[in-house]
Amino acid sequence: MIDKEYLFKYTEYSSHRELPEQDEQLVADAKQAAQNAYAPYSNFKVGAAVLLKNGKIITGNNQENSAYPSGLCAERVALFYANAKYPDVPVIAMAICAYNENGLLKTPVAPCGACRQVMLETELRFKTPVKVILIGEDYITVVDNTSQLLPFNFSSKDL
Ligand code: THU
Repeated sequence: MIDKEYLFKYTEYSSHRELPEQDEQLVADAKQAAQNAYAPYSNFKVGAAVLLKNGKIITGNNQENSAYPSGLCAERVALFYANAKYPDVPVIAMAICAYNENGLLKTPVAPCGACRQVMLETELRFKTPVKVILIGEDYITVVDNTSQLLPFNFSSKDL
């Protein structure tokens, strides 16, 4: 028997102004994208901004549906569109934020498990780490790649 430990590193920024300029832009774009979310059922508006290696930024937001499971999270809307439009261009970073009735969430919002799985696929597909920027009003958390957010993950290596 052997006990093992999983550790990962992440960085906390006390303000978006501390971020590199490109990341600050991604944060601004995610916030902007959240405003256009279609979230009449949850009133929880999520925005995601994806930075591609060619410098393009693609944004997305959550799209809900009266048949609840038919909706889709902001992260997957943005990533699927980025991959649909630029199938050969790696994704290098992604910023995520969420608003409830009190405004931007105070603490960074974390992507759901299904979105993490899709983020991981993107990272593996392009063999390029996807930096994840989780936005909160009080601080911002940055993780250098998505696989760290999904330990013991399932991927094509398991098929
Ligand atoms: N949502 C996202 O867009 N991203 C996440 O990572 C978590 C949840 C959306 C789905 C639904 O429209 C609303 O937030 C409430 O769950």
